[in-house]
Amino acid sequence: MKLFDVYPLNDITIVKACACNVWDDKGQKYLDFYGGHAVISIGHTNPHYVKRLEDQLHKVGFYSNSIKIPLQVELAEKLGKVSGKEDYQLFLCSSGAEANENALKLASFYNGRKKVIAFKKAFHGRTSLAVAVTDNPNIVAPINQTDNVIFLPWNDEAALEEAFKKYPEEISSVIIEGIQGVGGINIASESFLRKIRSLCDTYNAVFIADSVQCGYGRSGKFYSHDYAGVNADIYTMAKGMGNGFPVAGISIAPKIHAKHFMLGTTFGGNHLACAAALAVLEVIEKDNLIQNAAEMGDYLMTELKKLPKIKEVRGRGLMIGIDLPEELKDVKKNLLFKHKIFTGESKPNVIRLLPALNVTKVEADMVLEALNAELKA
Ligand SMILES: Cc1ncc(COP(=O)(O)O)c(C=O)c1O
Repeated sequence: MKLFDVYPLNDITIVKACACNVWDDKGQKYLDFYGGHAVISIGHTNPHYVKRLEDQLHKVGFYSNSIKIPLQVELAEKLGKVSGKEDYQLFLCSSGAEANENALKLASFYNGRKKVIAFKKAFHGRTSLAVAVTDNPNIVAPINQTDNVIFLPWNDEAALEEAFKKYPEEISSVIIEGIQGVGGINIASESFLRKIRSLCDTYNAVFIADSVQCGYGRSGKFYSHDYAGVNADIYTMAKGMGNGFPVAGISIAPKIHAKHFMLGTTFGGNHLACAAALAVLEVIEKDNLIQNAAEMGDYLMTELKKLPKIKEVRGRGLMIGIDLPEELKDVKKNLLFKHKIFTGESKPNVIRLLPALNVTKVEADMVLEALNAELKA
């Protein structure tokens, strides 16, 4: 059997990783400012994380949700505290798409409606509903197509108001990334997020904050939507939550009540997943990583803005987009193959910096130096 060929691959095999570095099978060291797509939050092979997972594996790795799992309760309490949403409720699953799928479904259960407002350039995942609210027709299969999704322009308050006026009784939810990742690092304005909050309140719709990529402290606040000073009804999270272990969840406002069997999953919230997620939160708290993300992000963005030829630097905390002109399309490739630095990208030519939240100034300077050399070349 061979692999189903869905990804274009870099010819690199990673065999070892530590903090913000990875090594290939030839012993070459790389600086990791990509984190396997914003997944590595507390650094590769963090000792506390490794030990907690190892200890858990020796006790019990998995049992299903048909029994009590005190680790889930511990995780819910810790997440409530670190995220500042202690009265919210946690449902655990295993991927970002699954989190969004459950959030959209729960919203529909809550108000009995079908329509969803999503935004241009949004990415919410590849499962059925998640891909339907994703603004990329190339990844929407005919079976996923639906008339229930309304795509609106980004940060356009008038268009949002218009849509609610047109479908006052039909809009179930509004789903929005606080900072669009795949779409090219676009920040939802604080006033736009507040407008979503007030329209959702007026029309009894559910405000879903997709925090799969921009959440978990990456933006310098636990949820990037927090910058607006209003609460969403459901936060979806994944990526940084398990530092590489597949664990995801949705944090649900108290006004939404659970009924038995309305949601469910086999793997979600298993013992190992909870151990991984708890280890991540413990390290985030103990090492003040949200503050480090804010400080290192400010530093990087200030310095990036001094570099030549860049069209625009966008971002918050350690979710940074460097928008380059078309003629500089080789910069990302050169960073990887010449300077041995992994970064992310967005089409058409945005370099995305998504390092672990404990990245150091020395590492930030290495990226700035390499970029400067490339841009001056
Ligand atoms: C904002 C956002 N939502 C959802 C997803 C889907 O997450 P997953 O790939 O874990 O299903 C992603 C993945 O990149 C994402 O960036």
